[in-house]
Amino acid sequence: MDKIAIKLNSDLTKSEIIQLLALDDFTPVYEAADRVRAASVGDTVHLRAIIEFSNICKRQCIYCGLNRDNEDLPRFRMSHEEIVATAREAVAAGYRTIVLQSGEDPWFTPEKLGAIIEDIKAIKITDIGTNEFVHPAVTISCGEMSEEDYAYLKSKGADRYLLKHETADPEAYSRLHPCGTLENRTNCLKTIHKLGYETGSGFMIGLPGQTLETIAEDLMLLRDIPCQMAGIGPFISNPKTALAGEKNGDPELTRRAVALARLLLPKANLPVTTALSIMTEEEHEQNPFAFGANVVMKKVTPDQYKEAYEIYPADFKPTDIAGDRKELEEIIKSYGRMPL
Ligand code: 5AD
Repeated sequence: MDKIAIKLNSDLTKSEIIQLLALDDFTPVYEAADRVRAASVGDTVHLRAIIEFSNICKRQCIYCGLNRDNEDLPRFRMSHEEIVATAREAVAAGYRTIVLQSGEDPWFTPEKLGAIIEDIKAIKITDIGTNEFVHPAVTISCGEMSEEDYAYLKSKGADRYLLKHETADPEAYSRLHPCGTLENRTNCLKTIHKLGYETGSGFMIGLPGQTLETIAEDLMLLRDIPCQMAGIGPFISNPKTALAGEKNGDPELTRRAVALARLLLPKANLPVTTALSIMTEEEHEQNPFAFGANVVMKKVTPDQYKEAYEIYPADFKPTDIAGDRKELEEIIKSYGRMPL
């Protein structure tokens, strides 16, 4: 077994991160991440309801099934009323955060999105502790926008913004994203942070050409922004994209990256990403919360749309917003954590 002489704290350097990622036995790092998680964010696991309200996208990201060149995907947009009704149902089931995610769909102008945000923010939740009304937090995940538009959505009540940088290697970024640059992406993240959003980024593990060095850079980019949320998930090859037939990302390496993110960003909200939970379903004995994560995002997208939100292939059970939430709460409790 290799000895770790590296101090497991938030100041890790690039070469230290690379050394840790390559360890034969990662157990001490998982344990350190779990201790930092317990000390910084406690035993609460936050549940987020995600509404995937449009799969129409003007971009051509070559790993993603929603890219505009995929003609083999039925496209949809949910109406304002459907989105708000779904959010209401999620709040009634106990969710306190609504995540609105879509492709980059110009039809949803800032004005339209702003009106949806206002209606969701107006939903009332009775706080069990104080008996007072609170309102749901709203997270937006709709891609790159101008500073003006990010500011407008903030003024309408958006609390958080998720924009994954996907890879911190500028050349790989350009190859994977014919419509964008890493520089634009990081500028958007810095703007989002400057405007006072709780800021989220993230990246994929196992993209073709990725090395441990790239992953170290991905992690350091999260710290540089600095991010308050980070979604790290395995790349899953989508047969309807240019990356058909590529190898999927390694779940173990993904867990290692999440654990290191916990060390670098002790207070961050780190989800067990959907892609990771799908992959680990067969190996169920593994506690998905034992390596630093403290958030679960659950799809509440209505069934008639859910299957068409096919970023990567996956089987989804029919949605039962309240029932799914109860089931998730029980699973979280069975791992000794507190669902919220
Ligand atoms: N495999 C795994 N994750 C993917 N994403 C997009 N395409 C894939 C894929 N093929 C992730 C990206 C994106 C999020 C919505 O889904 O990280 O930000």
